[in-house]
Amino acid sequence: MKRMLALALCAALMMSGCKAPGKELPVSTPAVTPAPTEETLAAPTASPAPTAAPAATPAPTPLVTPSPEDALPEVTAPPMRDFVLPEAAEQRWYFAETGSIQICPHGAEEGLCPTCHETGVPLPDLMRLATSLSLLTEAPRPMGSAHESDCADFLTDALTELGYNVISQPVTPQTVGYGRPGTNSLSYALGTAKLGAVAGSKEGQLTAEVLFYDPDEPLPASVEGKILILEKSTSFLSLMRGLGLGTPAAIVLKDVPEAAAKTVAEQWPEQIVTLYEEGPLPRSGDEATVTSAGNGDYDSENLIAVYGAGKGNALYFCAHYDSAPLSPGACDNGAGVAVLLELARLTAELAPEREVRFLFLTGEEDGLFGATVYAKNMANEEKAAVKALYNLDMFADAAQGTPILYTCDGQDNAATALLYSALFAQGLEMPAFGKEDRSDHAVFDGLGIPAAMFAQSESDELYHTPYDTAEKLSVSYMDQVALWCMATIG
Ligand code: BES
Ligand code: ZN
Repeated sequence: MKRMLALALCAALMMSGCKAPGKELPVSTPAVTPAPTEETLAAPTASPAPTAAPAATPAPTPLVTPSPEDALPEVTAPPMRDFVLPEAAEQRWYFAETGSIQICPHGAEEGLCPTCHETGVPLPDLMRLATSLSLLTEAPRPMGSAHESDCADFLTDALTELGYNVISQPVTPQTVGYGRPGTNSLSYALGTAKLGAVAGSKEGQLTAEVLFYDPDEPLPASVEGKILILEKSTSFLSLMRGLGLGTPAAIVLKDVPEAAAKTVAEQWPEQIVTLYEEGPLPRSGDEATVTSAGNGDYDSENLIAVYGAGKGNALYFCAHYDSAPLSPGACDNGAGVAVLLELARLTAELAPEREVRFLFLTGEEDGLFGATVYAKNMANEEKAAVKALYNLDMFADAAQGTPILYTCDGQDNAATALLYSALFAQGLEMPAFGKEDRSDHAVFDGLGIPAAMFAQSESDELYHTPYDTAEKLSVSYMDQVALWCMATIG
């Protein structure tokens, strides 16, 4: 608790332009000012009195100019004060001369760590992580939503300020190859079948008689106004047109490829066209209601930032920035995105002799859409040049244990080997190891790229719920994952 208050205090001091206690080094301009706004930062609760009077050195662009009499001015602090800092990290304070808050990985307590100072390895900045996180988690970010798009703008601006040339890669039904799985349904007296959306289909709801076409039965006299269910093949639709059997009100396709379903939706723009997913289906003659809540359309983007293009030995880091529909997605996966952005900053500062690529992916929650589009567009030479890929997805829940390193098959690969050898060489803590394939790294693993993911286990309290909010997270876990990633780069 004392440390949380200390962190709150420091956050307040940083925001006010004051320096952390115990530091006499000059304040230098950080590479990027994340530009926190009044809206994005939570109002402070009671401000504790400082244990040591802070030196009132003005920062380059102070938000509030402190007066000498008022050592702790009224400031708006980021929600960082609420973050939980686990015991282990409490031993590792480090206040850098940049006016940021960092944790020393070498065990130094308050003050400047000689090892950090000598090696000059840049450390993750907790202030930046907190500021990014508070912006990202203002609202849910489902693929294609307004807030997801705002977050893409925020990331683009931040990366551009860091000197990256940000590439936007469209993620749409056209680039993915299929529509968003919908919440469509077909209900009748005996149950409800779950239907998927087809890109380009009409939306709406209607009740009508069902006609379940069976190629072994005689042709129906008419399909007019009916809910037509077709299995395996769509060829009956041409026959139906040719024979003038009328126009169905809706077409439900079962065991038909998504691409074929899309073609049907294009050819039948006045009809609801959906894909059967699961559940009981009605028979011919039953009355049923078909609901098409969404037509499967979406428009989003992956953001790609490359450090040192063509330098070789490429390391890839990815995180999905979309969230589940009703969740602010702090743990899943705002934390991953905030850390990825911080990695881009630290990499630029470290200036390694290798290519490092940062992929901010969309549509993970809808079915790994962003990763699929990125993978589809990788040339063979690019695939061959990737030494390892690390996916950052859902690792900062303060109520869970230290983040774990997962591979799709639970076996080690070049990505895990690189990480563990780097951590061993640098005398840093190592993550435990496990098997998990439910995220974007699976797409790259499928291409034969050595891939791993930093994550924790799924939490019943947070996972895909509105309760997955920033104050449930541990900045220490975010810091830990950032340090692990940086160890592979440096
Ligand atoms: N962050 C989760 C994946 C995850 C689950 C990581 C458990 C670690 C432990 C991810 O965002 C997710 O929910 N993925 C979907 C994948 C699907 C839509 C392809 C899932 O698991 O349902
Ligand atoms: Zn996730």
